[in-house]
Amino acid sequence: MTEKLEAVLKEDRVFEPSAAFKEAARLNDPAQYEAMYRQSLDDPEAFWGKVASELHWFKPWERVLEWQAPNARWFVGAQTNITYNALDRNLASRRTKAAIVFEGEPGDNQVLTYHDLHREVCKFANVLKGLGVKKGDRVTIYLPMIPEVAIAMLACARIGAIHSVVFGGFSASALADRIKDAQASVLVTADGGWRRGSVVPLKNNADEALAEAPSIKSVVVVRRTGEDISMQPGRDHWYHELMQNASDQCPAEPMDSEDPLFILYTSGSTGKPKGVLHTIGGYQTYTYLTAKYIFDLQEQDTYFCTADVGWITGHSYVVYGILLNGATTVMYEGAPNWPDPGRIWQLIDKHGVSILYTAPTAIRAFMKAGEQWPLKYRLSSLRLLGTVGEPINPEAWMWYYNVIGKGRCPIVDTWWQTETGGIMITTLPGVHAMKPGHAGKPFFGIAPEIVDSSGQPISNPDEGGHLIIRRPWPAMLRTVWGDPQRYVNQYWSQYPGNYFTGDGARRDAEGYYLIMGRVDDVLNVSGHRLGTMEVESALVSHPAVAESAVVGKPDPIKGEAIVAFVTLKAGHTNLEALKNELKAHVVKVIGAIARPDEIRFTDALPKTRSGKIMRRLLRQIAAGETDIKGDTSTLEDRSVVEKLKAGE
Ligand code: PRX
Repeated sequence: MTEKLEAVLKEDRVFEPSAAFKEAARLNDPAQYEAMYRQSLDDPEAFWGKVASELHWFKPWERVLEWQAPNARWFVGAQTNITYNALDRNLASRRTKAAIVFEGEPGDNQVLTYHDLHREVCKFANVLKGLGVKKGDRVTIYLPMIPEVAIAMLACARIGAIHSVVFGGFSASALADRIKDAQASVLVTADGGWRRGSVVPLKNNADEALAEAPSIKSVVVVRRTGEDISMQPGRDHWYHELMQNASDQCPAEPMDSEDPLFILYTSGSTGKPKGVLHTIGGYQTYTYLTAKYIFDLQEQDTYFCTADVGWITGHSYVVYGILLNGATTVMYEGAPNWPDPGRIWQLIDKHGVSILYTAPTAIRAFMKAGEQWPLKYRLSSLRLLGTVGEPINPEAWMWYYNVIGKGRCPIVDTWWQTETGGIMITTLPGVHAMKPGHAGKPFFGIAPEIVDSSGQPISNPDEGGHLIIRRPWPAMLRTVWGDPQRYVNQYWSQYPGNYFTGDGARRDAEGYYLIMGRVDDVLNVSGHRLGTMEVESALVSHPAVAESAVVGKPDPIKGEAIVAFVTLKAGHTNLEALKNELKAHVVKVIGAIARPDEIRFTDALPKTRSGKIMRRLLRQIAAGETDIKGDTSTLEDRSVVEKLKAGE
């Protein structure tokens, strides 16, 4: 992290949005931002009440906010349905406008208008009802990035079922854990999905998962790749068969504002992923407003976010926030560099994309592939760029700005988390100057603070500390599914009454935030969160492993690479083969995103006298530092570090 940080800190250039962009932008006046921001903090109820009234509510709220830390209730007493706002509300003026523009990896194409999407969602909502799904039931969705993933999410929301989308790259065992935790009764999956020219065997993985997850009573299978798969009579149904006879009439169920909308699992500092719970009224209001102003969504825009719907970015800014604004969202199924590194640029050219939202890891990979790829395509439709998921190094920022945006397009570097539901810190594209590497200013209603470990605010500019949020915001997570105590411990106990983000940050004299990265045992690999404990538990579940400690190491493309220090049980000889076996084992237990880049066998791990693994030392060793800095006085056996450094 230190190296990454230093690279980030070297940059001090400032870029203003172009006059042309400013002129056409929804918000373009810094004084107006300041006034709105002030009002959002001085009178949050008035501010959010006004925003929410741009949406449809079956029944109005009695109070905008009820807050007793750590429990927030937004739009108390109101009834609404997010799909009414995302679909029905758009039918009057946008019936024939493209809602989803889909591009499959093999190049197949589909456009769903708001009319089409509304109809498909109603039909699938009826299919779910036919399978016995009721308000509050959990439905797990394990699909590739195809329109059916959005249809399934929206169909759940239509009838008040809680969706839990599991990223298609997760393994059978990760899927089983998530189904069991949510106690889902229905699984929606596909025969397979395309990824780099091969088929991801989703249904086979699902079958393996279901052997361990008996709560699932019905499985709906979308035919995507035409794989030969097994269908269990009575349990498994083809999507297209069920849809054939389904009625397209399904009024949106009036839901309580605080009813759950979805669970999304994310990594924390313990081995078990957390089911982050979001509720309807606040989430819809916040994703609607953030998408509107941060992406400056306007009627003629074609918006493309490259994230998978299996992550929060896909939930909030492929599906909900974008459709709530009646905009067109591009969905792409496959890898961004398949069949060649020009694929994303070709898609932008083909569909006339005007707003692109992607991750620094992707930008660094595009950069490495060379600018000849984007130069082959017309990128003149682009007017705004965004990044998310990890700190962006200024070099990658500059490349994105010059080579992709041609110096014309502002970049929004958006900081947020699964738990925050929507973007929290960013510049507004027509309002603020941009500083590469800095996310920027807080969004409306967001009260960040940088504190030291005792909770004292740090007011010196550019001094690092922990990033906390002082007040509730509408899309804040409400709890950890099935574990309310973990919600309190994880987010609210370190700085009582304040939300602790788990990130380190600093703020400059102009109030721009720079995010330094996680301060807990969470890795950020290619913009994806992974708990070191998760990878460690996967490793020790292999019979050869006695103990393991996993740390991140700076990586030029992925941000962080995974390095695992492993001690073996006695009697293992073919160590090179075993390394590969262990890597494959982690892929099997968690999924390809968790594959260790490096495995180092060692006789012992550096521990404190109380037996705690000293990861700080391991991080330095993994990064190849020879001069181990910091306090080592608590180390139990000093020779361990010397041996590790020598690679023994
Ligand atoms: O460390 C921060 C980093 O990603 C973490 C959240 O990960 P996740 O819940 O998977 O959500 C990712 C997409 C919203 C944060 O705690 N992070 C996210 N965005 C940025 C970032 N770090 C620096 N700059 C960002 N723009």
